[in-house]
Amino acid sequence: MAPDTARPLRLEALAYGGDYNPDQWSEDVWDEDIRLMLEAGVNLVSLPIFSWPQLEPEPGVFDWSWLDRVLAKLWDAGIRIDLATATATPPSWLLRAHPEMMPMDADGHRLEFGSRQTYCPSSPVWRENVARMTRAMAERYGDHPGVVLWHISNEYGDHTSRCWCPESARHFRRWLRDRYGDLDGLNEAWGVNVWGQRYTSWDHIETPRRAPGPINPTKLLDFERFSSDALLELFQLEVDVLREITPEIPVTTNFMSMFRDLDYWRFADAEDIVTDDAYPDPADPISHVGAALNYGLMRALKGGQPWLLLESSASATSWRDVNVPKAPGKMRVDSLQAVAHGSDAVMFFQWRQAKYGQEKFHSSMLGHRGEASRTYQETKALGQELKRLEAVRGTRVRSRVALVVDWDSWWGSSAIESLPSQRLNWARQARAWHRAMHLLGQPVDAVRATGPFDAYDVVLVPNLYIVDTAQAAALTAFADGGGHVAVGPFSGVVDDTEKVHDGGAPGPLRALLGVEVDEQWPHADEAAERVSYAGAEYENPFWGEWIEPDASTEVRGRYASGELEGRPAVTRRSAGAGSAWYVSAILEDAGLVAVFRDVLGGAGLPARAEANVDFESVTRSSADTDYTFALNHGREPLTVTVPEGALDLVTGATTGATLELGRYGVAVLATPRAAAPPFLTLAP
Ligand code: GLA
Repeated sequence: MAPDTARPLRLEALAYGGDYNPDQWSEDVWDEDIRLMLEAGVNLVSLPIFSWPQLEPEPGVFDWSWLDRVLAKLWDAGIRIDLATATATPPSWLLRAHPEMMPMDADGHRLEFGSRQTYCPSSPVWRENVARMTRAMAERYGDHPGVVLWHISNEYGDHTSRCWCPESARHFRRWLRDRYGDLDGLNEAWGVNVWGQRYTSWDHIETPRRAPGPINPTKLLDFERFSSDALLELFQLEVDVLREITPEIPVTTNFMSMFRDLDYWRFADAEDIVTDDAYPDPADPISHVGAALNYGLMRALKGGQPWLLLESSASATSWRDVNVPKAPGKMRVDSLQAVAHGSDAVMFFQWRQAKYGQEKFHSSMLGHRGEASRTYQETKALGQELKRLEAVRGTRVRSRVALVVDWDSWWGSSAIESLPSQRLNWARQARAWHRAMHLLGQPVDAVRATGPFDAYDVVLVPNLYIVDTAQAAALTAFADGGGHVAVGPFSGVVDDTEKVHDGGAPGPLRALLGVEVDEQWPHADEAAERVSYAGAEYENPFWGEWIEPDASTEVRGRYASGELEGRPAVTRRSAGAGSAWYVSAILEDAGLVAVFRDVLGGAGLPARAEANVDFESVTRSSADTDYTFALNHGREPLTVTVPEGALDLVTGATTGATLELGRYGVAVLATPRAAAPPFLTLAP
């Protein structure tokens, strides 16, 4: 398909490869690396991500020779390069010369050299050196024909996402000035009359270091916003240097899936191609469900444009308490799940398993046993298989359901110490609501709270603690135009300065939902509360609300126990040509499935009759073909009802009415593009 970015990836295949750290090995190993890469079908590698000290051993003295040689070998072999700017690891000489650039924690302790990302994002000396190094890399390699992508820094915020040092405080003040103009504006926004916090000088504002008691919530929220922006500035600084020197090469920075600390909507706006690092835990039998939501975000970040899975693990990671390997076949299904969800790449951390250092127990494409290792055997097979799936490159996922992802509400519902309950937050709600949709068989895109919603029939708002009038207006317009909205608890509570909306929740969503919340009603963990919905009862862990529906609103579910017994819990209102649901309770999966089945039914969308968490199906479409992925994430075989006569790109066979998906089985079915993407179900 035609590339849909101004700076496409110049790679005429699905990308396959991983992080490559040749500077951890002697040069004779490089030739073997390249031989085995070619054998495995590797066509893209990321380097030199952590090599600044090896490239600039002394201030201003560069040693490019080894990197020149590696890049030449890769180029000769036809392997393309995702070239890192190498700015994730400040050299020790820089830190010792400028100890003030070391990050500081909330207790005021500096974080020592000896790991990575030892920098304060706001440090002027760090920024100056980052720009200098990026420029040096771009000037040296910007016209290297093998470089197809710039890999800026690495996983911003992975280790250092917040810094509480004096330099960060100065930067925070500048950021606050830009936001509020003057001190009166800041004092008003932060509601300083509570607990006597009026500021009379900008210099009195510190980062929210540890305080005797709960900290001003608006200050905490602003610190989250500021910290994300501080890293975004650092990113933008490198983007600007690279765009100046190599305007034709796309830029990216590798995201960490659904990562709380950075507002990826804003980061994605700054780059050309979205790339993601995904590490679903093999020990968790439903980690693929969380992965699906992460990928729904990745494809949405640039409006549906294909993204690249830039890191994943061939088997075990090494940073969990217990690092369970991936059983045979699991790496394949995990990788193809990302492709199903719109990735045009399968990449790993890392190519060759390390012999020493922090990550020597992390699996790699080429394990410690070399060619004989199981991961290499599976790597080789996957490389071959991807060639058979080449037709899907550049196609787009079609989803009819979207879920609102909003960092402000995520931070607001999780950074603040004084909330009705610490159990409820955006991420937990989003995961639960997405899981229910997964069980019903509908893939889900992420979407901003302001839309655009036109591609969707159903929009889920699992929680939107902070709501402004523009968001409420966008959701209302969607329903008026025939869309179906479901809103979860503790939504529409405060504005963007954390002030409770007049009249309380759901604030600007009141007219849309037709309910008023009198009081939030969290309950004790051990209270086994229930909600009844459509003739069945479901568990309602940790949260309820005393709601008052208006006359236009239908009560569809009621609290079935506790102080709220008999009161409305789930409501529905016909809103314009569509509908608006309010789910004030939490609800176990089965309860959400029951409610969402009705939401989907009202929207005319199909839902699976039988919930099976292992089964997933997603469609990527070109102008004329639907490619429907059927994935079995479990060990038990599944029989799936499929369109007859489809071509399975995996096997080359034509389908009958049903298809067997063995343990971790995958099929990719090509059919002529239909008005609605094929909806696969389990055979009865
Ligand atoms: C992250 C980093 C990599 C590596 C992997 C290990 O994704 O970007 O450098 O540490 O984790 O899982």
